[in-house]
Amino acid sequence: MVREEILRWLLETDSARLQELWRRADEVRRHHVGDAVHLRGLVEFSNRCVRQCGYCGMRAGNSKLPRYRMTSDEILASARLAHDLGYGTLVLQSGEDPSMDPEWLAAVVRKITTTMPLAVTLSVGEWPPEALQLWREGGADRYLLRFETADEDLLRRIHPPLPGRPWSRFEILRSLGDLGYEVGSGILIGVPGQTFGELARCIELLRELELDMIGSGPFIPHPETPLGRSPVHFSSLEGGYGAGGLSARDQVPPDDIMTYKVLALARIVRPYANIPATTALATLDRASGYEKGLQRGANVIMPNVTPVRYRSLYHVYPGKVSSAPSDDTYYADIKARIEALGRTVGVGPGSSARWSGAAASCP
Ligand code: 5AD
Repeated sequence: MVREEILRWLLETDSARLQELWRRADEVRRHHVGDAVHLRGLVEFSNRCVRQCGYCGMRAGNSKLPRYRMTSDEILASARLAHDLGYGTLVLQSGEDPSMDPEWLAAVVRKITTTMPLAVTLSVGEWPPEALQLWREGGADRYLLRFETADEDLLRRIHPPLPGRPWSRFEILRSLGDLGYEVGSGILIGVPGQTFGELARCIELLRELELDMIGSGPFIPHPETPLGRSPVHFSSLEGGYGAGGLSARDQVPPDDIMTYKVLALARIVRPYANIPATTALATLDRASGYEKGLQRGANVIMPNVTPVRYRSLYHVYPGKVSSAPSDDTYYADIKARIEALGRTVGVGPGSSARWSGAAASCP
């Protein structure tokens, strides 16, 4: 699929024609990764962060947010919960915290992978090659680092660089595969400043980076951030995108339809990738975000296994669905929703097809 066609789909407003996109993505998903939906237990182990990202509620400048880092024993208890729930993968996610000792995290990973049959995914921000290598040697299998936007100028504005950090996010992404990681990245859909033309370029980048995992979600404004305070005009699909229609130069709206389009296009350009229906999508479309995501390209859900007392502190954006599950029906609910779609709950680590031999036929 070339950029013009990607852009046409992103600008498409006719719901009957969009059915064709959903159908195509669902078919590609079924053919390449099957009906299994893999569950990844998500541990949000620290909300400490040095970054000043304009979109994120955990930015260092948000002094209203109490900070925490879980102990190794707490993380191991969360890993045990994920394992007991039958999940094959644990995702360790945090803000970017240079005061965290890489050796400590390597030891945590080693403890998990030597005591439980869990694949471990790290999502801890931008780190030097030595740390990435140390964690890989400690047993981490996968690494997630969203590029957010393909426009490097826009990225610098919304995700300001830190002094003394020579490596760029794109360089890190390109190096992770050489270290033997399965590599994940994705897009912050509709972040202020993102145009349709740029979003089309982002989708192409998903293909160019040969990603094993693609996680993208809608931008949700957070009131304690610069981008959550400044009013940005988003055209909305409901309004038919205004009388004159839309063009490549318009701001992308961070709505659910746009998120489904990105999911579907991601599936079409990377047929074998593991693609989650993300928590941000489920937050925006509470009633059917997971279902529609799974029917429009996704094959992964990441249930939160962080101890409940920490969840509201992992405050990336407001209203997160998993912040305060009412009771322990939360985990059973997710499985029931998968089965109600006629899909199955995946067994085992659910590795990328690239590493399990199917890549030879990957287009
Ligand atoms: N809305 C939605 N997603 C956000 N993220 C950060 N801030 C927001 C927000 N306000 C996403 C980024 C980041 C991931 C961990 O969370 O894409 O990479």
